Amino acid sequence: MTLVRFLRPDGQLDREVEAPPGTNLLDLAQANGQPLEGSCEGAMACSTCHVIVAAEDFARLPRASEEEDDLLDLAAFVTRTSRLACQIMLWDEDRLTVRMPGAAYHLDR
Ligand code: FES
Repeated sequence: MTLVRFLRPDGQLDREVEAPPGTNLLDLAQANGQPLEGSCEGAMACSTCHVIVAAEDFARLPRASEEEDDLLDLAAFVTRTSRLACQIMLWDEDRLTVRMPGAAYHLDR
C-alpha cells in the first residue's frame, strides 16, 4: 500500500489516498478529483498528466523513459522532478507526494 499525497500548485494538501499495489497514478488522481486531463490515457501522445513529484520521493521512483522525457518537454511548468502520472505504477512504496502543476489548477475547485 502506498500513501499518496496530492498537493495543489501552491503546495497545500488537497487529499491523501491509500493506493493498493499495482495502481496507476493517473487513474488514482482522476478517481480522486485531481485536475489531470490525461487525454491520451497513457498512450504517450500528450503531456496532460504532468505532475511534480516531491524531491524526496523522486529518486525512489524508476527512472523516466527517454520517450517520457521527450514528452515532458512539451508540458508547462516542468521542473527537474516532473513526471507523467500515466507512467507511474505504485507498488509498495511507503509514500508518494505529487503536486499539480500550475496549469492544471482550476480556481473553482
Ligand atoms: S495521459 Fe497522455 S502522456 Fe500520460
